[in-house]
Amino acid sequence: MSEQAWWSNQDFWRKCAIFVTAFMFVVLILLTFHSLAAISGGTDRVPAYSVINHRIDYRFDEARNMKVPVIGEEAPLFGKVLSEDEARELVDLGKLTVQAKNCMNCHTLLGNGAYYAPDLTKAWLDPGWGNEQARELLMTMFLKDPMTNARTYGTNRRMPDLDITDEEVRGIIAFLKWMSAVDTNGFPQGFEPLPQGGS
Ligand code: HEC
Repeated sequence: MSEQAWWSNQDFWRKCAIFVTAFMFVVLILLTFHSLAAISGGTDRVPAYSVINHRIDYRFDEARNMKVPVIGEEAPLFGKVLSEDEARELVDLGKLTVQAKNCMNCHTLLGNGAYYAPDLTKAWLDPGWGNEQARELLMTMFLKDPMTNARTYGTNRRMPDLDITDEEVRGIIAFLKWMSAVDTNGFPQGFEPLPQGGS
């Protein structure tokens, strides 16, 4: 019988395959927990849902050389301070509505979606809403009847009426406000926010 080199031994390669698969399985589980911690509300980059009770500003940070969300003083959405649970419920409703109505078919949120219509990641801070006082009302009117209250910005593109209920509109606005407070590493690039009373 001829001598076999150690690396041509089938048993060795079988063990390697089992070891690599088992090792990567553990790595995958660890990374899953790591990702969940990084994207949950109330962590470093993703604020708690009750952030919708506050003014959200978006300012240049010298150290990071990019714009970052700055959570300001109390500025409750629709004039009502919500508990963390109530805020989560409202933001959840908004997110579920955004999913159910497939807003991503036209819009982009946090880097996912289409570019037919404006990016919604920082839509709450869009200077197009004019000023902080008018914003909630204008957003509500727009979402309830986007054809009549079309903004279009010279693109002539119109958003269809998606039959959104009053409660869903409130949820969507809460979701958009919360999303604008997510630290997105300066994305979208070059975005200039609505001037805020607190800055
Ligand atoms: C068929 C495509 C389409 C779908 C689906 C759609 N939109 Fe739009 N949306 C548009 C277009 C086009 C505009 C820009 C025209 C305008 O502002 O009048 C727009 C504008 C907006 C704006 C204003 C953005 C800004 O910063 O000025 C918001 C907010 C918005 N949409 C939210 C939503 C939400 C929430 C949904 C899902 C419930 C949704 N849209 C679904 C096409 C769409």
